[in-house]
Amino acid sequence: MEMNWNRGSRHGHERQTPVRFRRFSLIQRNRSILGVAALTLQNLANASAQDSTIRAVQNIFDPLSAPAEILYRISLLVLATCAIIFLVVAGLLTYAIIRYRRKGGADDLEEPPQVYGSAAIELAWTVPPILIVVVLVLVTARTIGEIQKPKLPNDAEQVRIIGHRFWWEVRYPKYDVVTADEIHVPLSDRSKRIATEFVLESADVIHGFWVPQLNGKTMLVPNHTNTMWVEPYKTGIYLGNCTVLCGAQHANMLIRVVVDTPERYQQWLNEQKATPADDQSVEEGKRQFIANSCGACHDIGGTNAKGVFGPDLTHFASRQTLGSGVAANNEENLRSWLQDPQVLKPGCLMPNMKLGDKQVQSILAYLRTLK
Ligand code: CUA
Repeated sequence: MEMNWNRGSRHGHERQTPVRFRRFSLIQRNRSILGVAALTLQNLANASAQDSTIRAVQNIFDPLSAPAEILYRISLLVLATCAIIFLVVAGLLTYAIIRYRRKGGADDLEEPPQVYGSAAIELAWTVPPILIVVVLVLVTARTIGEIQKPKLPNDAEQVRIIGHRFWWEVRYPKYDVVTADEIHVPLSDRSKRIATEFVLESADVIHGFWVPQLNGKTMLVPNHTNTMWVEPYKTGIYLGNCTVLCGAQHANMLIRVVVDTPERYQQWLNEQKATPADDQSVEEGKRQFIANSCGACHDIGGTNAKGVFGPDLTHFASRQTLGSGVAANNEENLRSWLQDPQVLKPGCLMPNMKLGDKQVQSILAYLRTLK
């Protein structure tokens, strides 16, 4: 069977995007002042449009959020301290090797001076290391306090994120909004902080949540609640991964955090709160969706589909990816997914529903209307 399951070139190369993006921003930087001014005007015009810049730096040295910045600062302190210790120790070692190397001749016959004990040296290798450790312990303790017990603004947003094999359930309790895999949060401002708290839970096994540019790793543990927070300084789409081996599709449990301007964020919440418009032309797809018991696992607002095992599909078509980031959310990939989810995501918990071509087509058309 020939199956064209184009994973979406855009998505398939997502991990390489930072390189392309860097090249792109270089070109941007080289534009004339006029060009920059035009860009700024365009940015103003797009204030409520979504910024689709992919931020996929998978290291801690390019923080774009308050807690990530705190972690970055302490990592620099620790690295610098270790670098200085390395230079001192390696320098003394090199000095000793060269200064006291075997010289041959009379040197070989003489017994070297026998020295026992030196208060100065003993103090030198005892006191400074203790002081260094004490300083690092104190600074680390303060940092842990800042990260774990932050003083968040009272109006901080709250998002409940529940790890499932192999996707993320995302809930906004204040707004009664439920979505999956793509987490929208508002942009913060250094003058007026806007923080978002993530409440992390798990529905099955231990998962790990990590978006390096936003914050450090936090585990999602069954029957236990962990929290973390983000305070991003730039809009865009931040990528992250599940960090705990949780099963066959652990590697494809991708995280997308979409940082929107506060206006765009509110607009997104409003769109998500609304029940999708009833489209008569896809009535057959809706019927097939219910008839094939898709609703046993999936929830679609305004219908009888009330399942909780799989991702909420109320606004499925508004999401950029499907299968928790495994492929771009386009017609081709969705068709492949409906024909057999095990093709795009082998080992995922959605079985092959053995739908006929007509059923696939009608359900596909229906799902594509769920904006
Ligand atoms: Cu979830 Cu790995």
